Amino acid sequence: TAAVSLAGLRIVVSAGPTFEDIDPVRFIGNRSSGKMGFAIAAAAARRGAQVVLVAGPVHLDTPASVQRIDVRSATQLRDAVIAALPADVYIGAAAVADYAPRAIAGNKIKKSADILTLELVRTPDTLAEVSASPSRPRCVVGFAAETENIEAHARGKLQKKNLDLIAANRVGVAGSGFESDDNALTVYSRDGVQALGPAPKTQLADELLTLIAERLHA
Ligand code: PMT
Repeated sequence: TAAVSLAGLRIVVSAGPTFEDIDPVRFIGNRSSGKMGFAIAAAAARRGAQVVLVAGPVHLDTPASVQRIDVRSATQLRDAVIAALPADVYIGAAAVADYAPRAIAGNKIKKSADILTLELVRTPDTLAEVSASPSRPRCVVGFAAETENIEAHARGKLQKKNLDLIAANRVGVAGSGFESDDNALTVYSRDGVQALGPAPKTQLADELLTLIAERLHA
């Protein structure tokens, strides 16, 4: 099938993990290579969209014709995404840390006690904020990385964050989710569900963009 053009659309994509620093040498992070989000950014640019890719710490080359903004923490990711609005589409493929240390120690924490307690605070939820923003993109797409009860958790996030689409994937098994070149997505909307893959992330990115383009043109 011929790819639907995305010319004239501005698309903001987040990808990769966030790292929340504990001290100058340690951090709390999520398992994410960035491959899924980078594949989406690359495919969107190939179809003519103006693409801003907000990337956490990953080891991937910037796709052709994509404006890349590198970030490290959830707060930096939030600031970069909000600064990139307005846009027609936001796709949150980043694995954002939900909690960060309350304070970053200025010096390397020394080991002494057998048990060390870290106090963590919630990070900003960029996806929810974009969706509730006065300059809300026409299409807001989330991802849901789940190990169990995938449909219930994904539909819950769709509702709670008022999303147009949510792409659920299973993590914690080989051949899908984090780090792998392949994935399988179940894409939920308020009124439907579509299974994509298993397939390479590059192909899934194109198929997801087709679903998004169909909604924008509907
Ligand atoms: O990077 P890869 O190795 O290719 O792996 C791809 C992936 C598994 C990371 C990707 O497909 C994926 O599922 N990304 C979302 C992972 C995730 O954090 O899901 P979540 O269920 O915790 O979050 C739900 C949604 O809210 C996501 O769109 C997330 O970007 C967003 N979120 C979450 C927390 C937060 N503080 N801010 C957010 O914006």
